[in-house]
Amino acid sequence: MKKSDFPIGIFDSGIGGLTVLKEICKVLPYENIVYFGDTARVPYGIRSPETVTKYALECIRYLLNHKIKLLVVACNTASAISLKDIRENVKIPVVGVIEPGAKAAITITKNKKIGVIGTEATVKSGAYRKAITEFLPQAEVFELACPLFVPLVEEGWTDDIIAYLIAEKYLKSMINKAVDTLVLGCTHYPLIKNVIQKIMGTVCLVDSAIETSLTVSKILNDNNLLKDNSISVNKKFFVTDSPDKFIAVGERFLNDKIINIERIAL
Ligand code: DGL
Repeated sequence: MKKSDFPIGIFDSGIGGLTVLKEICKVLPYENIVYFGDTARVPYGIRSPETVTKYALECIRYLLNHKIKLLVVACNTASAISLKDIRENVKIPVVGVIEPGAKAAITITKNKKIGVIGTEATVKSGAYRKAITEFLPQAEVFELACPLFVPLVEEGWTDDIIAYLIAEKYLKSMINKAVDTLVLGCTHYPLIKNVIQKIMGTVCLVDSAIETSLTVSKILNDNNLLKDNSISVNKKFFVTDSPDKFIAVGERFLNDKIINIERIAL
């Protein structure tokens, strides 16, 4: 098998990374994918940096046994905290979600006031702020944790009045800061984009999942690593807890069937 026909590996703390998988499949429909969701230990967003890195490296070691040609760290929390350690342990290209999201935000903003919403751990890490101000030092970055968005999305309450009220309460401070760009810095947030957009009005929302898929496509193109499109496409899912909930919620995320799934023990 040629290296270009190897799958793309996608790692996430659980189910949220499917939003990244979905965007990658839109731009690269012929690629094979191996997805790993650490569903037994999700959420990562409330854990300490040491724990996030330990968990992430354990999962990625497993993914690497599947001869992947590129690794996507779809989880914003793991990207924010552990990307350097992951890169030190992996010999293939590694794409995190922070840099693509940050770069998109700085090209969009006009007033240089950028908001970032994510998990507590992502916000605490300051990773988006660092990435944004590295590219645009004059930027003012306002980071905000919105921890209730993850369970809301997993419950499927994405268009519900409850989602609206919670989002309104969280985002009030962002409106007061007059940001013109808001980065959705968590895998789950693209699924409540409509509610967030209604509250934020004309503020431009940056979907890190879309930006990451474009980065992946560019790296594969630049390195002649695109799969031969005459070979059939395969998607394989590994989870660390029962696949039942992953399938039920994941099929809603993807709007597609999840069939090739296996529960593994690390
Ligand atoms: N995948 C996580 C992220 O994007 C959200 C869920 C979690 O806390 O593990 O930050």
